[in-house]
Amino acid sequence: MRFRDRVALVTGGGSGIGAATALRLASEGARVGVADIRVETAWQVASAIGSAAYALECDVADEGSTASAVAELMDRFGRLDVAHSNAACLEPEVYGRDGDLLDLDVEVWDRTMAVNLRGAMLVVKHTVPHMIEGGAIVVTSSVSGLVGDTDHAAYGTSKSALNGFIRYVATMYGSRGIRCNAVAPGLVMTDTARAVMSPTMLAEKAAERVLPWAASPEDVASVVAFLASDEARCITGQTIAVDGGTTAHRPEHALRSWKDAAS
Ligand SMILES: NC(=O)c1ccc[n+]([C@@H]2O[C@H](COP(=O)([O-])OP(=O)(O)OC[C@H]3O[C@@H](n4cnc5c(N)ncnc54)[C@H](O)[C@@H]3O)[C@@H](O)[C@H]2O)c1
Repeated sequence: MRFRDRVALVTGGGSGIGAATALRLASEGARVGVADIRVETAWQVASAIGSAAYALECDVADEGSTASAVAELMDRFGRLDVAHSNAACLEPEVYGRDGDLLDLDVEVWDRTMAVNLRGAMLVVKHTVPHMIEGGAIVVTSSVSGLVGDTDHAAYGTSKSALNGFIRYVATMYGSRGIRCNAVAPGLVMTDTARAVMSPTMLAEKAAERVLPWAASPEDVASVVAFLASDEARCITGQTIAVDGGTTAHRPEHALRSWKDAAS
């Protein structure tokens, strides 16, 4: 019960990694604000948790919406200790059109940055003032922020910026007992990952891992919970890859996996 008497906010909590984190934190004693732009999915997660959870309608790209969601959470639960800034713009009309830069619609770039990067900044801006007894912020980054690729430059750049952003937050508020870290998942088999990636992309990403098993949303949630807990009290400003070794090896490993699969 590492989160007994603590209150957490999880953005993008209506599905996938955010939902798994909300459930995990609640299972360890936290009261949880499940925030999502799709409030009906946030309610489904909050209902599964019970009276320790409350759904919040929130577009993290919008300052008023984020501020209202945090205010509603404070009204409901009276304190705030943990923020998991996890929402990202993964809609097919944005993420699905984040291809070659030479053809890129600037609106794809702007919406990606607004949700993924500005959203994290707004979560920090509106939660830190309530972290009176210290606190822990965990941002969901991605391996796409650690390496380059031939597509998804807007998404990858937003995640790369988050890896720098968390160091600034850690430095600015460390003296107040507030820690800020990131998790950088590799491929996680969420419904969204299955919907936005082709079978070839999924197979390529699986071949990039060194471990034989795929990460589940719960695997990421357990690392988020660790970073948010007092067990990580001396860790701040760090990005922890939860990627089955995807970023641990030379590219030849993935090429060999492909060759083995073909023969
Ligand atoms: N699934 C993967 O393979 C993978 C890999 C690396 C990183 N990630 C990151 O993990 C996080 C969660 O991804 P997921 O796979 O669980 O996807 P998901 O689609 O299941 O969850 C994302 C949630 O964010 C919500 N959301 C979208 N825009 C929002 C906004 N403007 N304001 C508030 N909520 C909003 C969605 O409604 C959704 O519930 C994202 O930050 C994603 O970039 C995922």
